Amino acid sequence: MCGIVGYIGYREATPILLTGLKRLEYRGYDSAGLALLEDLPRAVTSNGTETALVTGTRLVIQKCRGKVTELEELSALTPIHSTVGIGHTRWATHGAPSDINSHPHTDQNERLAIIHNGIIENYGQIRDRLAARGHTFRSETDTEVLAHLIGEFYSEERSLTEAVRLALNEVVGAYGIAVVAADDPNEIVCARKGSPLVIGVGNDNEYFVASDAAAIIAHTRQVIYLSDNEMATVSRSGIKTRTISNIEITKNIEVLDMELEAIEKSGFDHFMLKEIHEQPRTITDAMRGRVIEEEGDIVLGGLQNQLRDLRRAKRLILTACGTSFHAGLIGKYMIEQYARIPVEIEYASEFRYRNPIVGDDDVMFGISQSGETADTLAAMREGKRKGARALGIVNVVGSTIARESDGGVYIHAGPEIGVASTKAFTSQLTVLSLLTIMLGRMRHLSVVDGRAMIRELLLIPEKVQRILDDSEQQVKEIAEIFKDATNFLYLGRGYNYPVALEGALKLKEISYIHAEGYPAAEMKHGPIALIDENMPVVIIAPHDEVYEKVLSNIQEVRARKGHVIAIASEGDEKIKELAEQVIYIPRTMSLFTPMLSVVPLQLLSYYMACARGCNVDQPRNLAKSVTVE
Ligand code: G6P
Repeated sequence: MCGIVGYIGYREATPILLTGLKRLEYRGYDSAGLALLEDLPRAVTSNGTETALVTGTRLVIQKCRGKVTELEELSALTPIHSTVGIGHTRWATHGAPSDINSHPHTDQNERLAIIHNGIIENYGQIRDRLAARGHTFRSETDTEVLAHLIGEFYSEERSLTEAVRLALNEVVGAYGIAVVAADDPNEIVCARKGSPLVIGVGNDNEYFVASDAAAIIAHTRQVIYLSDNEMATVSRSGIKTRTISNIEITKNIEVLDMELEAIEKSGFDHFMLKEIHEQPRTITDAMRGRVIEEEGDIVLGGLQNQLRDLRRAKRLILTACGTSFHAGLIGKYMIEQYARIPVEIEYASEFRYRNPIVGDDDVMFGISQSGETADTLAAMREGKRKGARALGIVNVVGSTIARESDGGVYIHAGPEIGVASTKAFTSQLTVLSLLTIMLGRMRHLSVVDGRAMIRELLLIPEKVQRILDDSEQQVKEIAEIFKDATNFLYLGRGYNYPVALEGALKLKEISYIHAEGYPAAEMKHGPIALIDENMPVVIIAPHDEVYEKVLSNIQEVRARKGHVIAIASEGDEKIKELAEQVIYIPRTMSLFTPMLSVVPLQLLSYYMACARGCNVDQPRNLAKSVTVE
């Protein structure tokens, strides 16, 4: 979703801002822009002869619909000497993607510029009020209204910080903002409520502002995270922080745990392919230091203070969106089977608005790669309000869900840049497996069984590696065969039903082929009507408790001339007679099969998207981190 980057220091701002925006491209966007405070004096030549000297500071806006490279070209036409600026990538909410709707937006007098992530809900009322006072608006955005509102408060007697603060007190909604003004050229004012903002502390009196640490990691690892309702005035001499109700606060500098190379492609054509290939390592990282093999037990540091609640919990509630929801669905199956605790899993967007029954005996887990998904965050707050313990299973360290949770487990997958989630999914499954064993050992699971599960789990990374080594070329060929299909069906049962959902989601997201995931037996209740000689059907059929049932489903597809692509266990010769294509995965315990069966499906969607010429890492209309509802 939208991205923010800001710079104040002694270097040229434009290249720093443009590089920062490129680091944020993965989040999904449709336009980009810069606001620069141009350092004057400057010699201006008119008519080719007379030269005049202009002094002061000029606010320059450069923005356009399209990619950051287009902004770069635009910016190169009019180079600006500036050491203070802000940059934005916009993902349209209010108003279509267009040059005029792109950020930054300015106030009525064009003295200040703002970039904004989030949504101002009461922008309509504010806009009417300001219009009655003579304001005219150039764009359709809520952000421009906020710019005008700040402009209303901004005067010779009132600082930019105070003007921003007063404006924010009138605003209902979510925001991460950064503001610069020509009359206060030595500062950037930023604030957050519901949309992340981090301030980077560089060397030699330079500072950075960003909505995502990836934008500034090349420059500094020292950061200050703003919390909701906090704002900061960032100048070359330091950072002043206060709440938007004007209480001064002191914030700690934290050190980012992120490597620059983790956000680069390292020789792969796309981040998504790199991240698929990272999985043997990321699954290992998710287990690192958490497994006590001899005792058949698991130690999760972030849950040590929650053990009492977890032991007496009558129910677990898992909530998430997108791919994280699919991981949660598998988590439900695992935990119920091995720990015998009832588990509910619900889309966060549904949970937050339907007045769910939640009580003191419930423990809730929000599952989120980014830790910023607005619906997941709101669902967790709702659960907390009603008495549940709210815990997180999160990837991004220091993210809002991680900070607001009572405790939780990091999945340690490292930055995930490809919009289609891959390695985060298998790391979430790894953590849910650890949680299952831990909860099981608190209740009904014997040391012998715990040990056997751990031993098998420890083998998963090398089995994933085998799939990558053995099947990538085959999957690529299958993608070539089916690249022109317009519909796909994915079927699975038990633990692999959510994998069918995830496989279909991956294909939709990046190849734009319509795909449906179904529990295999449900096929007879509707989707079977769609099956004909044009329909490829991916069937996940590992050798597990429901294998024979899945074989019957394959027969049903074949009888209607559908093309079967099966994901099957190594050594299964029988399935070869039934399916057109068979991709083999190593054998494992049923609960761990999703970590293996999903890998060929990730590769399939990747190679389908490549074969169709789609933008794999930045698919149209999608955002990596959905910070609005
Ligand atoms: C977006 C992303 C998905 C992701 C979902 C949930 O839709 O494009 O890849 O699964 O959000 O995100 P989260 O960060 O909460 O896991």
